[in-house]
Amino acid sequence: MCGIVGAVAQRNIVPILLEGLKRLEYRGYDSCGVAVNSQGLKRARSVARVAELEREVEQTGFAGSAGIAHTRWATHGAPATNNAHPHFSSGKHGENFIGVVHNGIIENYESIRDELKAKGYHFESQTDTEVVAHLVNDSYDGDLLRTVQKVVKRLTGAFAIAVFCKDEPERVIGARLGCPLIVGLGHGENFLASDAMALAGTTDQIIYLEEGDVVDVKREGVRIFDRDDQEVQRKAQTVTAYSGAIDLGPYRHYMQKEIFEQPRAITDTLEGVQGFVPDLFGQRAEEVFGQIDAVQILACGTSYYSGMTAKYWLESVAGLPTSVEIASEYRYRTPAVNPNALIVVISQSGETADTLAALKYAKELGHKHSIAICNVATSAMVRETELAYLTRAGAEIGVASTKAFTTQLTALFLLTLTLAKMRGRLSAEEEQQQLRNLRHLPTALQSVLALEPQVIAWAEAFARKENALFLGRGLHYPIALEGALKLKEISYIHAEAYPAGELKHGPLALVTAEMPVVTVAPNDALIEKLKSNMQEVRARGGQLYVFADGDSHISSSEGVHVIRMPEHYGLLSPILHVVPLQLLAYHTALARGTDVDKPRNLAKSVTVE
Ligand code: G6P
Repeated sequence: MCGIVGAVAQRNIVPILLEGLKRLEYRGYDSCGVAVNSQGLKRARSVARVAELEREVEQTGFAGSAGIAHTRWATHGAPATNNAHPHFSSGKHGENFIGVVHNGIIENYESIRDELKAKGYHFESQTDTEVVAHLVNDSYDGDLLRTVQKVVKRLTGAFAIAVFCKDEPERVIGARLGCPLIVGLGHGENFLASDAMALAGTTDQIIYLEEGDVVDVKREGVRIFDRDDQEVQRKAQTVTAYSGAIDLGPYRHYMQKEIFEQPRAITDTLEGVQGFVPDLFGQRAEEVFGQIDAVQILACGTSYYSGMTAKYWLESVAGLPTSVEIASEYRYRTPAVNPNALIVVISQSGETADTLAALKYAKELGHKHSIAICNVATSAMVRETELAYLTRAGAEIGVASTKAFTTQLTALFLLTLTLAKMRGRLSAEEEQQQLRNLRHLPTALQSVLALEPQVIAWAEAFARKENALFLGRGLHYPIALEGALKLKEISYIHAEAYPAGELKHGPLALVTAEMPVVTVAPNDALIEKLKSNMQEVRARGGQLYVFADGDSHISSSEGVHVIRMPEHYGLLSPILHVVPLQLLAYHTALARGTDVDKPRNLAKSVTVE
């Protein structure tokens, strides 16, 4: 999604702004731009990559000591240069007087645009953002801070903005409501960004702004005002988490790096876990867990599939009735509410607009308790839930989520066993066994990662296909769904997943010799049923690509290709089985030459509805 960088310094800040944009590229974007305040506002915008923008800027000798920059993911108006940010406003104070960059959506932009058009303002773009530039221009009273404070009160929706003004060359004003915005503190220079990652290498002193904050960024310091315009002090934190994240090391893509980081990410996520105790989830967890009698999971995308997997665990192990729902659906329907159902929001970023809205809605509906499973400690979701478990995947840059998923599953497994134990459904012996399994998980994952060369051999065949089916059963049905999602996201091959038992009710009609059918085959209670489903595919000439547990007695034969996994890993098996599916998607995409880390039309952190 969109990214913001802003800076006020003594030196030329253009390289810092461009570097910041590069660091935000991972969020997904379709155009970009940068503007400086140097004897007037000047800007450069591009519908190409940031590297192109950089070349353009280098050729023109573009420089300045205060500026704003942006990567845009189109919502209102096509990805075209005139819609790219920064947007400028000319009007009663002269040419190019105000410049703005914006993340999120201004919901009431149409009425404001009509009002401003009636006053004679000329709109160059189809964006909602341009109204902010003109509105600041129209309301300008000689002080940009005061003006922005006035203007944000007229805006509805969710947004983060950075604004500057020709007449106040050493100042950038930021404001946030519903979208993240941070302040970076330097020596005699200060910064703004939508994500601390943008400032990695520039400063590690970060202030996370709160909802409704407006910040006045100057060279000599920053001043922060809350939604009632009262000056407030917000503590700076040292954020070093991102320093190594940008380094690709021996890998070709972030996605590959992140797949291989999974053993480390899970080890970190399990740090300090000695047993299945409520304290892991927050101080009030014991009291809260004692009051709930059901679970309602809300999430989007890959996080939704980790929630689907957790449903199988929570019902079978903890005995808790569990519903899982896509957040964008839940937020707009009228569910029958059980106020004692624990709301579990799952999110890598903690900022996904639909999941946040679903959480707020669940609270309005009367749900008493909530927990976030999240990878970002400072995110809105962690702030807005009563309890939290932080996955320690580290920054995930590839748009296709990998290590976030397996660490979410790890956290959800901890939650399941903690609830099971509290409900008297976990013996001391079982607890010890599950703890041993968890501790051994990173090593087991290493042996799955070692299968990469075999997966590469399959990827060559997949790269020539336009369709693929994924099958799984029970606990591994969500893993089949996640495998299909990975393949479609980055290789653009149409992929669908089905619970294998459902094959004969429709998808079998698609099976021909041209259709690869990926089968997730753990040696669990359903293995014989799954083998029958595989026969249904073979009988129609379909090509089976099976990830089979070492002890499942499935071997290669004509039309049946098998990659042998380690022996069955019990309840934690989904965490192992998803990894070869991630590798298959990655290597297929590589063979097809797609932009693996930045797949077309997708964004990393979807902060708009
Ligand atoms: C986007 C990303 C997905 C992610 C989903 C939910 O669509 O491309 O990879 O699974 O958002 O994101 P979250 O941060 O809430 O887990």
